[in-house]
Amino acid sequence: MAQTMIDKNRVLIFDTTLRDGEQSPGATMTHDEKLEIADLLDEMGVDIIEAGFPIASEGDFEAVSDIAKRAKFSTICGLARAKLPDIDRCWEAVQHAKSPRIHTFIGTSPLHRAIPNLTMDEMADVIHETVSHARNLCDNVQWSPMDATRTEHDYLCRVVEIAIKAGATTINIPDTVGYTAPTESADLIRMLLERVPGADEIIFATHCHNDLGMATANALAAVDAGARQIECTINGLGERAGNTALEEVVMAMKVRQDIMPYQTHIDTTKIMNISRRVAQVSGFPVQFNKAIVGKNAFLHESGIHQDGVLKNVETFEIMKPADIGLNEANIAMGKHSGRAALRAKLKDLGYELGDNQLKDVFVRFKALADRKKEIYDEDLIALMTDSAANTADDYLQVKWLRVVCGSDGQEAELKMLVDGEEKSSKCQGDGPVDAVFNCVKEIYPTQAKLKLYQVHAVTEGTDAQATVSVRLEEDGRIGTGAASDTDTILASVKAYVGALNRLRFRSQKTAPDADVKTVSYKL
Ligand code: KIV
Ligand code: ZN
Repeated sequence: MAQTMIDKNRVLIFDTTLRDGEQSPGATMTHDEKLEIADLLDEMGVDIIEAGFPIASEGDFEAVSDIAKRAKFSTICGLARAKLPDIDRCWEAVQHAKSPRIHTFIGTSPLHRAIPNLTMDEMADVIHETVSHARNLCDNVQWSPMDATRTEHDYLCRVVEIAIKAGATTINIPDTVGYTAPTESADLIRMLLERVPGADEIIFATHCHNDLGMATANALAAVDAGARQIECTINGLGERAGNTALEEVVMAMKVRQDIMPYQTHIDTTKIMNISRRVAQVSGFPVQFNKAIVGKNAFLHESGIHQDGVLKNVETFEIMKPADIGLNEANIAMGKHSGRAALRAKLKDLGYELGDNQLKDVFVRFKALADRKKEIYDEDLIALMTDSAANTADDYLQVKWLRVVCGSDGQEAELKMLVDGEEKSSKCQGDGPVDAVFNCVKEIYPTQAKLKLYQVHAVTEGTDAQATVSVRLEEDGRIGTGAASDTDTILASVKAYVGALNRLRFRSQKTAPDADVKTVSYKL
């Protein structure tokens, strides 16, 4: 067996934020962002990182191969359809890793078999050929029967057996459309372990989607039945309702060791930091009441709860904020705080800055402190998001803005840099945001359609910063932008311009999002 034998209660964590997560329309990450997230996953102890889909685009290939070269602990995996050129390209990208893996898949349910129009026997041959080919290249091969939970059981057993005989070392059982339920998820793994010859020689993985809100429960039920790899994403990022959330399964197993006595290698104190970074770079904010990493997950608003927590923290808290790396003492900073204090505070929040970066962030911090008396952790996180999303190297940059608004109408005047050249515009609109966006469109004509415009207050009070998220779509490509400021209109225009910069970058680097999706679901 190619895989090292592991403790029977050890559950491998397979993170697919950079593949299934990034595949979600709009969750685009730049090359550098992907490397940064991969580094964080590696440092937190993720066993396997699915770094991308190498044949999907040049950008995906480069990201997988660069991540493979730098990973220290994690196995690096790439996805490939059941096609020999896909598998070769995948191997080309992952081969540099200390521990590489090829993950190949094909849709085995009746609906998916109908797409390439293959009979059951023909598909079985394709599986044998492609898994054998992958195994000839790499000792560590994962195979997935896509839509396994809607595949006939006899056929599923047959193809899993073929894949094992052809050399697969991990068999992943995807609930591609989030259709299964906990008892069924467990029964399926149990059935495969009982019926398939050689099943005890390989590792079964569970890969759940959250369409019915059961992804975490389904994954844990599969583990209870014998699966020893959970496929998941940070914040549950992923298409539609997303994938199983890494932080949920890992913390559930940690908190409920009494009924789930399984171990992972995850350093849970790194969860909060990576959750924030993924939210920032993907442009998908975490909902406030999200389990584990939501802003309210450890908040106790009601009097009864607060009283109980003060007397004995265990009355209403089943885990400690520090377990996920959440800093409890949210002590405000202000305009008298110095550079060293800022560096220390940011380090606490998970941001390690070099001297130059600190210099830039300190200038922004001082400007914010001039407008806002008390600066909380959330303000600093918003400031860091803003600094990462809108930089001095951007093709389009907002330089100056004036807006006049009131009951007589709205007018905006905007100055921007376009590739270093200053341009200005004056426009009216239906409200101040519309007027400013019209200015941008006059300066930089675009066909991009606004798909999302969202504002949320970072903290309480009328001097609170607003974080604005914008999602644009053009020619099947999605670009997202985010910006924070105490001035909501300024944050809006910066987020809009940020999204245009991302769209521009994407149109130079990648195939349209729609194509990537088709590639992943066609034989
Ligand atoms: O959901 C799914 O079926 C997948 C496969 C490609 C494993 O993501
Ligand atoms: Zn999936």
